Amino acid sequence: MPLNPIILEALKKVKYPGFSRDIVSFGLVRNAELQNGKARVQIAITTADPRVPSGLKKDIEQVLGQADGISGTEVEIAVSKPQGAPAPGPQEDRSQDAARLQGIKKIVAVASGKGGVGKSTFAVNLACAFDTVLFQERGYSAVGIMDCDVYGPSIPLMLGLRGKPEIEDESLLPKENFGIKAMSMGLLVDRNTPVVWRGPMVNKTIQQFAHNVKWGDLDILVVDLPPGTGDAQLSLAQNIPIDGAVIVTTPQEASVSVTTRGAILFEKVNIPMIGVAENMSYFFNSASGEREYIFGQGGGEQAAQTLHTNFLGQIPLDSAIRQGGDAGIPVVKATPESETSRCFYGVARRILQILSFPL
Ligand SMILES: Nc1ncnc2c1ncn2[C@@H]1O[C@H](COP(=O)(O)OP(=O)(O)O)[C@@H](O)[C@H]1O
Ligand SMILES: [Mg+2]
Repeated sequence: MPLNPIILEALKKVKYPGFSRDIVSFGLVRNAELQNGKARVQIAITTADPRVPSGLKKDIEQVLGQADGISGTEVEIAVSKPQGAPAPGPQEDRSQDAARLQGIKKIVAVASGKGGVGKSTFAVNLACAFDTVLFQERGYSAVGIMDCDVYGPSIPLMLGLRGKPEIEDESLLPKENFGIKAMSMGLLVDRNTPVVWRGPMVNKTIQQFAHNVKWGDLDILVVDLPPGTGDAQLSLAQNIPIDGAVIVTTPQEASVSVTTRGAILFEKVNIPMIGVAENMSYFFNSASGEREYIFGQGGGEQAAQTLHTNFLGQIPLDSAIRQGGDAGIPVVKATPESETSRCFYGVARRILQILSFPL
């Protein structure tokens, strides 16, 4: 049945909690009927927060009550729980911090047990994939990436960023390329800055990155954590109100065991796990048309199972990924139609779904 235009007009005044967009443009209205002055409305949402449906119901009843030609309302809200969603509660510990990062809807941390699994490459392309998917779905998008790897900041290179960031009202302005806003220690320190000086900078820098960067309004901020699961990662995770963590692994067994350690770290600081993504999963041999599982098979899925979390998908071993990183043009932006880019969109969509990000 077509949605009733009088009801739809009224519902456009109802914003989804925490967003500046209305529930009609988010596509959440399943049914809107008007019979003898009585409005019947059905909304479908995905959320783990019990306040969302009750708040929405109240707002909907209010706008319909004020609309001409509507004398009665019947509002039904179908709620489905996001898979792997955090239980409401632990996040409240971080609500004060969260308030200080106003304007950023979701913060997703990308972590790995050890270095060299392609975490930064994954983080950059994931940010680009979020941008593309959000833009496709709604016609606009705002995505940022924060490089917290103080020892080996690689994001500026991968995004082709150069020069020092500008300062405005004592805040750092992020640099922007391909529509992605970025901040990195690599933009602030010289390549020649001795590594020993960087250690003490870690904590301070992270705090500044979180609270003294003028990100503006962002849909998603991707945080590239330093590799490993030590104290630096712990304090970092406590300093930023992270909504969920993605762990990147390669299919190898060794990497799976360190992945588990990463997950335990996030549990300690009450950061919900979004899931495990597998990088360098296979090589597509174009001559034979076969996938070659160079580093073994099933490691990522196995890690996700062990951790009782979601498996977010596989990214192939593709020389275009490395070349894109070296050239400062992420593969997702260089060849948006390629199979490899599609793999990143798949992971991005899955994460948006798990975070209940309304599209
Ligand atoms: N899926 C992939 N296919 C090909 N090369 C990759 C892939 N992922 C990462 N790389 C390359 O591996 C190297 C290490 O990646 P990087 O993202 O810096 O790892 P990490 O941040 O985990 O240390 C880089 O040269 C990068 O281009
Ligand atoms: Mg890195």
